Amino acid sequence: MPVRHRVHFPPQKANDLAQDEVFFYVIEDGEKIRLRFHDYASIYARPGLYEQLFYDRLKCTSPTKVADILRKTVEANGQDATALRVLDLGAGNGMMGEALKRHGVSRLVGVDIIPEAREACLRDRPGMYDDYYVADFTDIDAELHEDICEWQVDCLTSVAALGFGDIPQRAFVQALQFVRPGGWAAFNIKHTFLDPSDTTGFSALVRELLFSESIEVHHIERYWHRLSMEGNPLAYFALVLRKEAELPLDLPRRVGIVG
Ligand SMILES: C[S@@+](CC[C@H](N)C(=O)[O-])C[C@H]1O[C@@H](n2cnc3c(N)ncnc32)[C@H](O)[C@@H]1O
Repeated sequence: MPVRHRVHFPPQKANDLAQDEVFFYVIEDGEKIRLRFHDYASIYARPGLYEQLFYDRLKCTSPTKVADILRKTVEANGQDATALRVLDLGAGNGMMGEALKRHGVSRLVGVDIIPEAREACLRDRPGMYDDYYVADFTDIDAELHEDICEWQVDCLTSVAALGFGDIPQRAFVQALQFVRPGGWAAFNIKHTFLDPSDTTGFSALVRELLFSESIEVHHIERYWHRLSMEGNPLAYFALVLRKEAELPLDLPRRVGIVG
């Protein structure tokens, strides 16, 4: 039986806070501990808190949505989703891994930037990933590069992890470079990332990819990612892209990834 945590949402409305600044309280031994939604290390350290908060209370649907459209798209193209060799970027405690495993994939490799994510995944979903790396994909060394290449990845997934102070453009581009031509990428983004008035780096990257000759868009769907703390549905897009060719060498420069 998973532990139920005593979670309190603050009395004030959180409408003015950026998505990564929203906070809540967890009550432990009479002590009221304030955590931000993005305090992943502290959330993962408490078994079941991530699931209770984002999945039970805020009704997150994204791993299921993205895994489902990935399977349907791959199968509509005459391929078996069960043969996919997936790199899951921002894998956290393994919610997306679990959704992918329900469809059966051939290899599943997780990556997250914090060790607490890997530890929580090994604790709560042992054996979910064939391997799980703790790494910063903006700066990977030759050994890790070789390791990931050995997995012969043909699919990248990244759920609830792009933008908002999470995975930066450079890390996403690096991960996409590991996918062999003919392979797939399935991920979700906040709906504003496709809005021309959004000038943040991630929006520029997504728009560049959608119009790139190296990428073919196979599925794009607007859906409710989860509820906000105030109970309002948050609109996201779920996308499935096929990588037709290696990404253009000047892509990083064009989307303002320096260095
Ligand atoms: C909201 S969680 C999503 C976890 C999981 N994909 C899910 O759907 O439940 C975002 C995850 O992205 C990870 N993350 C943030 N920045 C990252 C980066 N630069 N590289 C890899 N992972 C990152 C965080 O540590 C966190 O585990």
